[in-house]
Amino acid sequence: MPALKALIAQLGSLALLFVIGHGVGLPFSAPLALAVLQGAMAAFFAAGLRSARWWTAIHLAFMPCVVLASGSGLPAWIYLVAFALFALVYWSSFRTQVPLFLSNKLTVHRLTAWLPDNQPLKVLDIGSGTGSLVQRMARLRPDWRIYGIETAPAPYWLSRRLCRDLPNTQLTRGDFWQSSLREFDVVYAFLSPVPMPALWAKALREMRPGCWLVSNSFEIARTTPASIVSVGDKRGTRLFCYRIPDRKMPGGSAQLG
Ligand SMILES: C[S@@+](CC[C@H](N)C(=O)[O-])C[C@H]1O[C@@H](n2cnc3c(N)ncnc32)[C@H](O)[C@@H]1O
Repeated sequence: MPALKALIAQLGSLALLFVIGHGVGLPFSAPLALAVLQGAMAAFFAAGLRSARWWTAIHLAFMPCVVLASGSGLPAWIYLVAFALFALVYWSSFRTQVPLFLSNKLTVHRLTAWLPDNQPLKVLDIGSGTGSLVQRMARLRPDWRIYGIETAPAPYWLSRRLCRDLPNTQLTRGDFWQSSLREFDVVYAFLSPVPMPALWAKALREMRPGCWLVSNSFEIARTTPASIVSVGDKRGTRLFCYRIPDRKMPGGSAQLG
């Protein structure tokens, strides 16, 4: 788990610094210089633990930032408030490895236009964040029912507010892994590469043949999407659209579309 590896790297480098200090003595005494040394050692440990490359920058910067902040004279409660705000927004990202970033307007328009429009659909956004997709799609298609499930409290509260006048939306606070995908025609995911294999296995277990799992940006390894929608926005968003196959018929069959 990345957060545990980060903790081990930080504590390991602190312990090593302590041992060196008591053994041969430290090469310098200025707190900032020691923090830079500790950060470099933590980055080294993290590399040894095969952490993702971007952890190097976090380890290098963490302790120097602590030293600089503690000398800044800011009142202690500010750190507590900042921690609480981050926790309310990012909640279990350290465990799920899915941070908060939002689907843009063009993505929602392109997806809505691409989905079959000859029948009312039930669409679920798993990890619905602030409801960017839910509220936009609900406005575009009042005849569809758009659902969202989100774990983090702050984005969930905001999504409830933004969707309060949209009767064709339903938002739930919870963990989508604990919730069934069975009743939905379309499941939309904008997560990260980490959960994709497990999500595909869950979709195959629970979703009906012919329904769609649409992943914004993150492909499912060794699985060919039935279609890739290029959104045409600045970040080059692509939607990987996977059709749930019919287990009985090789090649699959369609219920939707
Ligand atoms: C990248 S954001 C996408 C937000 C929204 N779907 C959108 O497209 O604008 C991913 C969201 O998934 C949420 N999330 C991650 N794992 C989750 C889980 N197991 N159950 C519910 N929400 C989850 C995160 O809290 C985060 O808000």
